[in-house]
Amino acid sequence: MDAHPIAGSLGAEISGVDLSQDLSDSVIGEIRSALLDHQVIFFRDQNLTPQRQLAFARRWGKIHLHPFMAGMPDCPEVLEIRKTPDDKRNFGGSWHTDQMFAPQPAMGTILYAQQVPSVGGDTMFSNQYLAYEALSDGMKAMLSRVRGVCVGDKKRGGVSRMDYNAATIAMKTVEPPKDLQTTSMHPLVRTHPETGRKSLYIGSHVHYLEGMTESECAPLIQYLRDHSVKPEFVCRFQWRNGSLAFWDNRCTQHLAINDYPAETRVMHRVTVRGDTPF
Ligand code: OGA
Ligand code: MN
Repeated sequence: MDAHPIAGSLGAEISGVDLSQDLSDSVIGEIRSALLDHQVIFFRDQNLTPQRQLAFARRWGKIHLHPFMAGMPDCPEVLEIRKTPDDKRNFGGSWHTDQMFAPQPAMGTILYAQQVPSVGGDTMFSNQYLAYEALSDGMKAMLSRVRGVCVGDKKRGGVSRMDYNAATIAMKTVEPPKDLQTTSMHPLVRTHPETGRKSLYIGSHVHYLEGMTESECAPLIQYLRDHSVKPEFVCRFQWRNGSLAFWDNRCTQHLAINDYPAETRVMHRVTVRGDTPF
């Protein structure tokens, strides 16, 4: 197995692994090291059924079911992300980290390209260790005491995310369970449970900061969102059919670029459950 970085910031292409096979614990261990070293890893030319992708994902932990989006009928743990020429908007089109609104957000996401446009439809990733480390000592000290209020069922401004999705994308939504927790508070600076490194934990789900008025926290949230995705922290991945990306949601953000209006893009996604951020 070899890892080839695709940028100075984060991201590496891994060669020499066939993810459709039953992988040994030692190969899984090597993949884990690569993920921890590079934050997002990419595999090319994979040939995976939804069931095989799911089998690979299960090696990392329990599977997280999306509370608002419908899984594939014959394999509900796999979410098909589909954008057609009729869709105005794409899924994941703003900088975010997955399921930040949940008390225990996703540890990782495994996204497999089924059908990509002839050009465009890349995904960008940002290294949140670097974003944290680049802050001044004064800002780091201030943020170390602050928690973000992360909201899943509404857009900023209060529009229901279910209504927004239903109006702008063709992907099927589901009614979430009545007792689903859709708002959670998480530290803005989180410590990675495996590497012990600190990273900035910000994304589009952060609507407020604990204990501050909206007019106090809005400019700070905007500053942190802009800062967290500076060019020197990001990489951009160009998909081909059969490419697979595995990212660590605990120390990255990502964004799907919506630049292929007349074409279709189909991806299969499995998300692995994570721990309570600290
Ligand atoms: C996701 C997501 C990005 C993409 O699956 O969580 O944001 O490029 N997808 O489709
Ligand atoms: Mn996402």
